Amino acid sequence: MPINQQIILKSRPQGKATVDNFEMREAAVPVIKAGQVLVRHQFLSLDPYMRGRMNEGKSYAAAQPLDSVMIGGTVGVVEASAHENFQPGDTVVGMGGWQTYSVVDANEPGAIRKVSTSHVPASAYLGPVGMPGVTGWMGLTQICKPKAGETLVVSAASGAVGSVVGQLGKSMGCRVVGIAGGAEKCRYVTQDLGFDACIDYKAHADSKSLYGALKAATPDGVDAYFENVGGIIMDTVLARTNPFARIATA
Ligand SMILES: NC(=O)c1ccc[n+]([C@@H]2O[C@H](COP(=O)([O-])OP(=O)(O)OC[C@H]3O[C@@H](n4cnc5c(N)ncnc54)[C@H](OP(=O)(O)O)[C@@H]3O)[C@@H](O)[C@H]2O)c1
Repeated sequence: MPINQQIILKSRPQGKATVDNFEMREAAVPVIKAGQVLVRHQFLSLDPYMRGRMNEGKSYAAAQPLDSVMIGGTVGVVEASAHENFQPGDTVVGMGGWQTYSVVDANEPGAIRKVSTSHVPASAYLGPVGMPGVTGWMGLTQICKPKAGETLVVSAASGAVGSVVGQLGKSMGCRVVGIAGGAEKCRYVTQDLGFDACIDYKAHADSKSLYGALKAATPDGVDAYFENVGGIIMDTVLARTNPFARIATA
């Protein structure tokens, strides 16, 4: 019998989450009932929202309950199906959580979605063509609305959302400037993702120094800003915006 390895949230982190907040458990893989699908996970997404869910208190979504499998987006393969729309071998996207298998009620709206891997790798459904990519696309095309020739700045530029925003911005004809932490991330942003420039904010001790680097990278000011991080980075970019600049906050 296959074993379902599960990662359980045991306690609520204070500050950064640590391994002590979690516990690994092994459970039997459940037998499915009518309408259900058994999925073996191949990819799990780790996203910033998860840290917020580990807290209790008022939020836009319910807190992750203690002593249960940690929530998370997954891509996997159907192992067994008792639902007519799904067959063993189908690649599916869902919220299977931090475990190797999940049982999904396929009649629940939005619980599971069949996807094609003929043109897009399965993992991309958790990234560029999944929730982060759609977030980037929405903010860029519906809020930033950059025109060709304008300057677009993107913070957390090497991340799941920022990497998509910058590449879309380039395809729209913009000058795209990323902000990321560290020389290696900036190299990735310019050389692999194709941004025009990238500022390593960790190389700048204060906002004056960061502003100087941003000014050099944005000689015509900032027309659109995709904001992912807040704090000193956001304040510095705001000081460089042109009249009628648009700002999307993720
Ligand atoms: N509204 C929505 O529906 C929605 C959906 C998806 C994501 N989001 C939000 O979008 C943002 C980006 O998400 P993502 O999935 O792209 O995240 P990600 O891939 O995990 O990247 C996050 C990056 O942010 C940077 N960062 C973290 N703390 C920072 C700080 N204090 N100052 C400066 N940079 C910091 C880090 O990059 P560096 O090492 O380069 O600093 C980190 O790698 C997050 O705020 C997330 O909550 C919103």
